[in-house]
Amino acid sequence: MTRENWGTRIGFILAAIGSAVGLGNIWRFPGVAYESGGGAFLVPYLVALLTAGIPLLIMEFTIGRKYRGSAPVAYRRMNKSAEAIGWWQVAISIVISVYYAAIIAWACWYGYFSLTQQWGEDPGAFLIEDFLQAGEMYDFSAWLPKIGIVMIVIWAATLLIIGAGVRKGIELANKIFIPLLVVMFGVLVVQALTLDGAAQGLNTFFTPDWDAVADPRVWLAAYGQIFFSLSIGFGIMVTYASYLKRKSDITTSAFTVGFSNSSFEILCGIGVFSVLGFMSLQSGVPIAELSDTGVGLAFIAFPAIINTLPFAPGLFGILFFGSLVLAGWTSLISIIQVPVAAVEDRFGVSRVKSTLFVGGGIAIVSTALLPTTAGLNLLDVTDNYINNYGIAVAAPVSIVAVVWVLWKWKELRDNANATSTFKIGPIWMVCLGVITPIMLAAILFFNIRDLLAADPNDPEDPLALYAANQVTGWAIAIGAIAFGVIMALILRKRPAPVLISEEDEQVREGTAK
Ligand code: ALA
Repeated sequence: MTRENWGTRIGFILAAIGSAVGLGNIWRFPGVAYESGGGAFLVPYLVALLTAGIPLLIMEFTIGRKYRGSAPVAYRRMNKSAEAIGWWQVAISIVISVYYAAIIAWACWYGYFSLTQQWGEDPGAFLIEDFLQAGEMYDFSAWLPKIGIVMIVIWAATLLIIGAGVRKGIELANKIFIPLLVVMFGVLVVQALTLDGAAQGLNTFFTPDWDAVADPRVWLAAYGQIFFSLSIGFGIMVTYASYLKRKSDITTSAFTVGFSNSSFEILCGIGVFSVLGFMSLQSGVPIAELSDTGVGLAFIAFPAIINTLPFAPGLFGILFFGSLVLAGWTSLISIIQVPVAAVEDRFGVSRVKSTLFVGGGIAIVSTALLPTTAGLNLLDVTDNYINNYGIAVAAPVSIVAVVWVLWKWKELRDNANATSTFKIGPIWMVCLGVITPIMLAAILFFNIRDLLAADPNDPEDPLALYAANQVTGWAIAIGAIAFGVIMALILRKRPAPVLISEEDEQVREGTAK
């Protein structure tokens, strides 16, 4: 059987943008940017995009297209001993998908709540006590049917799309959802910009704090954001690119995806800070004390703001939470495609079976664990460890293996250049093979140092929760590596499926000259 491929070039680009634009853009970026020096953060952010994000995206696109397989198969075809990297990335994707679906379910409910501002006067208490009924880390005493049922619907819809295949499922879904997302978010930003106080909010966002640029942690935050946000380092872009036709342009697509994702991200910052400016004006509380990252920003600060909007608060809520659902969903599709395609390609099972058993199995675990009283803490700890010690380690390991150990960079460069209008050369190699691994080694060093210095009993310490749950956190991060190594060892003697040559492919497709 010939490998499925994308129907059109724009279909692939939209799917890759759909994967990149996700929860990381809307709720993570504005907070990270603000905490890391506002306008000045854009300098390290753009440097990280150009020196690490786009070069690694080009590497992953080229690996996927050249070796025509999901991450484990692609790495195995590159070299027998590299398969573990692919399975490690599969494990990271599985972990992320488990909690990612829960956040989308919360956003669905919050879209509904916003119609009547059901969260009342104290959205913080409503979120933690009423909605999530959050308890201790391992408090599985209650399963919350409200969230659980929505998660079942989200998982079912996601698996239906995956099961329908690359063209009829993933490509079609992204062709519908991404334009819709852009329109919805565009209307939201316009509405936000017209609020009183928006200008002050934007001033806060764009006023550079140049001292921050001298702080190494700001640089590290920028690199971390780029990796998660561009969906690189955990198998997604290798998998998506494996469905590219052999003649497709690599480098222009990578620049298009990279710049579209960052443009959307900056637009999110503009929208969120206009709204924070409005709220600061209303409440008299400085913006610095309002802005928050992640859960707090989307599910506490935004509901509080919606309460005070002068017109159409329900519409504002629908636009914001609807955007979160669409952006998150198109990313979830790409994340779950990684394990589903890995089993399909490596074991030769049908797509439907793999979707049912692999995707279904992950969906069951996710729906059992997350909508519980332990859900919030579990999500927070898992997200922290899998990003900081999963993606941020797997990415440089894959780069060092490909560039230095297997010395494949020349082959990949030539492969990408053969079909691309924009040619890459030594600058790409230096960014990818030298600058990025050094920066990521530093990220790791600073992260671990801060974590070990954190006080688990100090509620004011932002790292307290992660320091207190190191056993769980490290078990997840190291467990992902162990999964990769064990899978590779089990499959050591089982050759990868034969890579069909270009000529054979053309004969089978009836396109041979
Ligand atoms: N790239 C996805 C996001 O930003 C995973 O959320």
